[in-house]
Amino acid sequence: MPIPTSRPLLVDCDTGIDDAVALLYLCRTEGVDLRAVTTVAGNTSAERAARNTLQVLEVAGRTDIPVAAGAATTLRGDTLSEAAFVHGDGGLGGVSLPEPTAPLDRRHAVDLIIDTARQAGGELDILATAPLTNLALALRKEPGLPALIRHVTVMGGAVHHPGNITAVAEANIGHDPEAADAVLTADWDLTLVPLDVTMRENLTEEHRQRLLACGTPVGRLAGEALDFYFAFHEETALPFRGSACHDPLAAGIAVGEVTPKTAPRLHVTVDTADGAARGALVADTRGIHRGYSPQPGANANVVLETDGTFPDLLVDRLCQARK
Ligand code: RIB
Ligand code: CA
Repeated sequence: MPIPTSRPLLVDCDTGIDDAVALLYLCRTEGVDLRAVTTVAGNTSAERAARNTLQVLEVAGRTDIPVAAGAATTLRGDTLSEAAFVHGDGGLGGVSLPEPTAPLDRRHAVDLIIDTARQAGGELDILATAPLTNLALALRKEPGLPALIRHVTVMGGAVHHPGNITAVAEANIGHDPEAADAVLTADWDLTLVPLDVTMRENLTEEHRQRLLACGTPVGRLAGEALDFYFAFHEETALPFRGSACHDPLAAGIAVGEVTPKTAPRLHVTVDTADGAARGALVADTRGIHRGYSPQPGANANVVLETDGTFPDLLVDRLCQARK
């Protein structure tokens, strides 16, 4: 089924198992106009994430999409940490894919973001599923960027949910808090997809077996890569073999296929102090008992509830034969 409206989309990611699944979903969803992908260090290095992205896009038959690598360090100059223990060596759960045939775009990710935004004439949507360093650098380089962007969707943060890199910080926000704060408070329309919902939309071993058995190249790749991700989640975060659906759920929301059940407009910032709460999302949820009544100065739609059905849709989509 085509998505409600088709708009140009740029994905900024750190491919990464769940980033890869999100990209496969976007490539297989009719009507998605994926214009470019940029990468940042996070789950793996920015270069490796870019190479992974080219490989994943190639499996989906999309060697035409420009892919550029970006930031390796945070805004304040710290090395962006990598997460082989979550995503495996190389970032795709140990799955080995052929060398990509498409070349890496020679531009820095920041320039590809700005160029793509200009070309789309104010219509570009951005989906960010990684530390927000590239987007923060793009805002610095082109202060007029918000006027060129229709909507930004960010997978990140934790509102009523614990963090996943510290007690309170989620990875995409917590690995570069200064960048996250700049992106969340910039003058653009923004939707935040936090752990509160991504940890509750779960892929299970039954889903993975369906992916492996369905016979499409994208289904097989997703099924194989998720094996490592499931082991990590089972050991550390979930009471069963399966995983969260972080980046794919954000993709579903970004393209309008998933309609959140609860997504109040809230004032959000990020704790950038050097203390125990560094990298925590500070979301003003004081309206919780009054249906989140309108909040002056609110700057983000924060997704707090979805209906839990996205993993089924995702698996069906990845298993659909290519037209
Ligand atoms: O916290 C979840 C996020 O961190 C996801 O984007 C995942 O890919 C990792 O980068
Ligand atoms: Ca990611």
